[in-house]
Amino acid sequence: MSTIDHSQIIKQGFLVKKGAVWKTWKKRWFVIQGKMMYYYKKEKDVTPLGAIPLSEKTTAKIAENVKKANCFEVDVPGKRTYYICGQSEDDRQKWIETILSTIRASNQPKVSLEDFDIVSVLGRGTYGKVQLVQKKDNGTYYAMKSLHKGRLAISQQVEQTLAEKDVFLRARHPFLVSLHYSFQSDEKLFMILDYANGGELFFHLRKEGKFSNERVRLYAAEIVLALEYLHKLDIVYRDLKLENILLSDDGHIKITDFGLVKTNISEEKNGTKTICGTPEYMAPEVLLEIGYSKSVDWWSLGVLMYEMLVGLPPFYSEDMNVLYQKILRQPLKFPPDVPELARDLIKKLLIRNPKKRIGSSNEDSLPIKSHPYFAIFDWEKVYKKEIEPSFKPEIKEVTDISNFDQEFTKEKGENSVPDVSVMGRISQKAFDGFTFMENVDGLGDLNNLD
Ligand code: ADE
Repeated sequence: MSTIDHSQIIKQGFLVKKGAVWKTWKKRWFVIQGKMMYYYKKEKDVTPLGAIPLSEKTTAKIAENVKKANCFEVDVPGKRTYYICGQSEDDRQKWIETILSTIRASNQPKVSLEDFDIVSVLGRGTYGKVQLVQKKDNGTYYAMKSLHKGRLAISQQVEQTLAEKDVFLRARHPFLVSLHYSFQSDEKLFMILDYANGGELFFHLRKEGKFSNERVRLYAAEIVLALEYLHKLDIVYRDLKLENILLSDDGHIKITDFGLVKTNISEEKNGTKTICGTPEYMAPEVLLEIGYSKSVDWWSLGVLMYEMLVGLPPFYSEDMNVLYQKILRQPLKFPPDVPELARDLIKKLLIRNPKKRIGSSNEDSLPIKSHPYFAIFDWEKVYKKEIEPSFKPEIKEVTDISNFDQEFTKEKGENSVPDVSVMGRISQKAFDGFTFMENVDGLGDLNNLD
């Protein structure tokens, strides 16, 4: 039986904390682990000086009344209020976000597969599938992503999936799919996510050929805000592509799939590297494996914008090796109908040298947001979804799945049985830490529906 893993370190670093008795400010090493925020005198210390519980009623916010710079307060009702200062405004924001998301996670109710009715299949990938499900007690619809542990373990994606869960857990943003619950059975990991019933942008682009400049501009702006937020949390998304961008019923985007296939390059036994998934959106430095940074996401945004405006990606070939070469070397060309400002921004996003690419500086998204292409936008309004999308998906009712590929939706929405020969070789230990609410061990029959 697997339980919540408290050993995973979520965040750590030096902060300055105000003493409870003498009110002096002291530099301390802070670690958020499980549901606690520990503080130590020194980085390598084993015994903490104290522990702040990040559960139930604890709250965190900017400390408005503290003169010292970049301070925040963590209030534990009935215990005390801690005053703590980060090294910069950005550092403070990251700590507050992480504390709040840890509190959210520890307050989640226990949930298992039995709490959902499966309605239909929405999509399928190498590692599992996405199904539309309805929560039995309140009728809410969610997208349930189930991943075969066996397939994940074989492809060494286990760590990645666990990381994905943490990313989802920490993230709350209008343009990112949220993770509501996660649990596991012997064979599978399950994630209960926001259901975006407008389907994938991939589906709409293939149907319509290309999108108008107006439409691309709003999608790109919303993606910029989502990436900016992830980057502030120190997360590089790395897998930005049409298939991972969904539409809500209001026509705004939601990015999903935090790293299902994050490490697209895997090492084989003989030391050769293979690319899994499509490398179309991969930045040159990812292909060359020379280390990557947040700017790989800005490259992918450039590819995506180009594909939405033109109908085809800027570098393309069925042959992997040719595609590689094109991404690394082929001069960027535009059809004549791509508007000048869009063209200029895409050119700057597709600069091969990551250090020269727009968005690569410490300012991250700022130069992109200030590019003349986006001059018509008030970014606050974009964030608040106050810019009306020119396209709204046609949705007759909440369970209308006509915006999803029929290849999947014609399947029955059931929890299929895994390949037993594969599962026999996989250690359950690898999945400790996945469940943050409840697991579904012992569901027996539910795991053998077909
Ligand atoms: N939420 C997360 N993934 C989804 C998908 N593929 N379709 C609809 N909603 C989702």
